[in-house]
Amino acid sequence: MTLKDLDEVIQLDHASFSLPWPESSFRFEIEKNECSRCWVALLDQRIVGIMVAWLIVDEIHIATFAVDPVYRRQGIAQRLLAHTLVDGLNSGGEKGFLEVREGNLPARCLYEKLGFVDVGIRKNYYKDNGENAVMMNLEHPNIDMLESFL
Ligand SMILES: CC(C)(COP(=O)(O)OP(=O)(O)OC[C@H]1O[C@@H](n2cnc3c(N)ncnc32)[C@H](O)[C@@H]1OP(=O)(O)O)[C@@H](O)C(=O)NCCC(=O)NCCS
Repeated sequence: MTLKDLDEVIQLDHASFSLPWPESSFRFEIEKNECSRCWVALLDQRIVGIMVAWLIVDEIHIATFAVDPVYRRQGIAQRLLAHTLVDGLNSGGEKGFLEVREGNLPARCLYEKLGFVDVGIRKNYYKDNGENAVMMNLEHPNIDMLESFL
């Protein structure tokens, strides 16, 4: 992801989340945050997936991640997530962490498929509807399995 991608990234983010990020947040991640690893998934030159992850010491933290609604259920998310995790593991990461809405079953199924497990709940975490966040860890990443999705 680069600054040139911002318009498409913002559009995809708005189509995917009830609490999208402001443009300034993506700009900060691309330009300033040294922990940040920002990716886009491309199909025929079009941005169909976005990912911002933070590599903090040994932890790969998924900050935001979405696939264009038109292109879902084609394996794009699992490839983008696997890429992000493999990149993080090859750069000193040893485990993964994320928070996901309790009712977001597509995302929770995806994370479980790639090895994440539920480790706790943050009550009333999301500002728009008070939904709980489920915290998920990837303690023992299986790099061979992750690479099979690339
Ligand atoms: C979650 C999301 C990224 C999945 O993207 P996708 O490209 O459609 O996912 P994939 O096609 O790669 O699916 C991979 C796996 O995810 C799970 N999955 C994806 N969509 C699912 C659905 N609607 N219902 C159940 N499981 C689903 C399945 O385990 C699937 O594996 P399978 O095809 O073998 O069943 C997408 O739905 C999205 O952008 N949602 C809105 C934003 C969001 O919730 N981001 C995550 C925030 S934590």
